[in-house]
Parts: sequence; C-alpha cells; structure tokens
Amino acid sequence: MNAVKELSDTKRISDMTDDEIKDEVKKAYSKVAQRTGTKCCDQEDNPSRESTSSCCNPSPSDMKRLVLSFGYSVDGLPASATESYAGCGNPVALASLREGEVVLDLGSGAGLDVFEAAKRVGETGRVIGVDMTQEMLQKAEENAVKLGVTNVEFRKGDIENLPIEDDSIDIIISNCVINLAPDKSKVFREAFRVLKPGGRVMISDIVLHGPLPKDIRDEVITYTGCLGGAIPEEKYLQLMRDAGFERVEVVEKFEINLGSSARISGYKPKE
Ligand SMILES: C[S@@+](CC[C@H](N)C(=O)[O-])C[C@H]1O[C@@H](n2cnc3c(N)ncnc32)[C@H](O)[C@@H]1O
Repeated sequence: MNAVKELSDTKRISDMTDDEIKDEVKKAYSKVAQRTGTKCCDQEDNPSRESTSSCCNPSPSDMKRLVLSFGYSVDGLPASATESYAGCGNPVALASLREGEVVLDLGSGAGLDVFEAAKRVGETGRVIGVDMTQEMLQKAEENAVKLGVTNVEFRKGDIENLPIEDDSIDIIISNCVINLAPDKSKVFREAFRVLKPGGRVMISDIVLHGPLPKDIRDEVITYTGCLGGAIPEEKYLQLMRDAGFERVEVVEKFEINLGSSARISGYKPKE
C-alpha cells in the first residue's frame, strides 16, 4: 500500500508542464548555489544532519581540482566562485575571445565562466550572465564584488526568452544548461536573435548517443542532473541549424555514461 502511494506521489517529467519542469530545475540549482565548504546544502531540510563537506557536497578541494582539470585558472578566485560550479567542460577556453567583445553566458550559475571571459575581453569588453535561479544570481553578484570585476552584469531571465536586445552580442557561451531547457528550439532561436551578424556560439553541453529509456528520462533527479533533458547529438546540431546557425560543429568531446560532454560551435551568418 505504501509502495503504491509512494509510486503515485513520484513526479514524472512527462506529466509536467514546461513551467513545472523549470521550477524543479530552479529548486535543484538553488541548492547547488547554497553549497559552501562547511555546510550541507540540505541541512535546512534536515537540520540535525552533521555538517561535513562530504555529506552532500563535493569538498572545496574536489571542486578546485575539477575546474583546474577543465583548464580554468583559479588564481585569486574565492572558493565561492568554484564551489557551485556545475558545468561540463570549459567553453571559454575554446571561444577565442578578443579584447572589447560583448559576451553572453546562458545559465551563468555562480559565474565562473563569466569571470573567466571577463579577464579575456578586458575593460573595453563586457560579459552578461543570464540565469533564472535567484540564489545563483545572488551568489554570482557576491562573487563579482569579492573579485572586484566591473565589466560583468547578471540578469534574471529565462534563456527561452532572453532579456537581451536584438543583434547586440559578439559571442554566446553556455555551460551545461541547454539540456535543462524544455524547449531547446526556442533557446537557439533566441540565441540567434541576440547575436550580431557574424556572431558565434561556443556551447558546452551533454548530448546523447541515442534516446534514453523512458523510465530514466522521466526521473526528476536525472533531468535536473543534466542527463534526462539531453538529446542526441545529431538532433542538437540540427536544432541549431534550424534556428539559422551555419558552420555548426562539435569541436571537442569526451565520453560520459550514455552520451558525451561536447563543445559545439556555430555562427550567425554575416548578412
Ligand atoms: C548545470 S548549472 C550550470 C551553471 C553554470 N553554467 C556552470 O557551469 O557552473 C545550470 C544553470 O542554468 C540555469 N538554468 C537552467 N535552465 C534555465 C533557463 N531556462 N533559463 C535560465 N537559466 C536556466 C540554472 O539556474 C543553473 O544555474
């Protein structure tokens, strides 16, 4: 009886509206934003739980090792800039950013890619991060103050409906976010709209070898963990081409369970 009740209480992605899915994503990433080296992200749910860095969070040194392995330079970065990193690669390393460029980061989280990009575009450039999770935006803004960077800005918004002007961005980066968007076509159409003619994207994301079994795809935790909403690589590239991007290609990838973590580039035609 209890088992039947538990089953009927379990939420399934396929029964949810897009807004309900986004609410689950916000819930999951507000917890990631609350990671610190000393406090469990679920201590609020269970205050008696002992506070150790391994009870639910990766330790600060594990996170530092992970971001270093992706080629980020962590010199001078506070732990708060790396402890909530939730990416799957380093799009900035492959983005060939130039002084003075205007960069947009889709789903900027705690801001690591924004800060990395800000160093490369310099004082004459600008980096805007967009995220829908309030706790992530707050952490990113606090990190910007700690770092004293002034050429960055964080905006609250949905990457399916960007709070960004048409034809205003030189390059869009994104790190492990588009897989979480229920309507990926909309994301790519919005990315195309805001790029200047000749602008480009460098996306790091999870793509699949083939469709996932329905029971796995339907689990909320698998979806918010960046796998359940992922789509096959060829379909991903086709959605980008359908939005108008040209020269769409995978420039780097490494294998993960059931798919790959890929760096994908594409260009908005000059005219
Ligand atoms: C896996 S985390 C990656 C964060 C960051 N890019 C990084 O590499 O650490 C996904 C982030 O995307 C944000 N996000 C997911 N779907 C979004 C959407 N539709 N619009 C805006 N932000 C979104 C989440 O709030 C979260 O901060």
